[in-house]
Amino acid sequence: MRIRFKKWARPELAASPFCMDDAFSLAGKWRTHFARPEQPFYVELGCGKGGWVSQAAVLHPECNYLALDIKSEMLGMAKRKTEKAFSEAGREPDNILLSILNIERFSEVLTPADGVDRIYINFCNPWPKEGHKKRRLTHPRQLRQYAAVLRGELHFKTDDRDLFEESLEYFRESGWEILHHTFDLHADEPADNIRTEHENMFTEMGKKIHFVIAKPPAEAFGKPVPNLHAPETVKLLRGLEKQHDLGILTDEEFEKRKQIILLHAEEAPHDEGMEVEES
Ligand SMILES: C[S@@+](CC[C@H](N)C(=O)[O-])C[C@H]1O[C@@H](n2cnc3c(N)ncnc32)[C@H](O)[C@@H]1O
Repeated sequence: MRIRFKKWARPELAASPFCMDDAFSLAGKWRTHFARPEQPFYVELGCGKGGWVSQAAVLHPECNYLALDIKSEMLGMAKRKTEKAFSEAGREPDNILLSILNIERFSEVLTPADGVDRIYINFCNPWPKEGHKKRRLTHPRQLRQYAAVLRGELHFKTDDRDLFEESLEYFRESGWEILHHTFDLHADEPADNIRTEHENMFTEMGKKIHFVIAKPPAEAFGKPVPNLHAPETVKLLRGLEKQHDLGILTDEEFEKRKQIILLHAEEAPHDEGMEVEES
């Protein structure tokens, strides 16, 4: 779905007390920005227009919520929705934060010190083409980043059957425990399920909603993860991709060299690479 540019979004986000404009500078400090820092800390990845998180934060003042999205247009709408939901409830939005982030850079922004208790992924882009699958928010590359900081569970909903089945595989091959899964969440919809914008849209289209709760392997907590955005790593990977595209490197040689670069990247600390622009 294409979202039109909204020129009001960035200034509104910049002026809002619950929209954080530099997620990278808050790594390890997120909890201090909530009124009650000791509460469970839940993070939604790819929050879109904020329908889910605005309802969740109003319904659960005993939990803190951080909602992240790559697009300021989306976050702008989430901000307005949050203000409306809290105003209707007669409360201040003191248990919710919104911030712009490319989730591929998750581990630069959320660290073990943040004590993330739950991650929600609601209807992320399915990226069906083989070459694009690594961009999925449930791809093993991402799961590794989440596992390093997540103390509790990940909840994932989607209407996309292929994405769901492959994500179940991603969880298993990454050592995550599947605690619960269903191919039809609404067949016996839990009373506490909060429907997202996409969930409503797909349900109206007659699609089934798939849902899984998974838990990362305990030993992954606190483990360093490859920082694919560290300047040196970006340079090396781009050079390698160029050689591969030109046919100088075979697929096998490309993969072998890439793994060596990633192995090296693993040593990069959390806060490196913040200056690198998205390609
Ligand atoms: C299909 S929408 C789902 C929105 C909402 N969660 C819902 O269920 O209605 C996917 C959202 O993920 C965001 N997104 C996609 N890739 C992302 C990434 N790499 N980092 C952060 N957000 C991303 C998009 O901007 C979009 O808002």
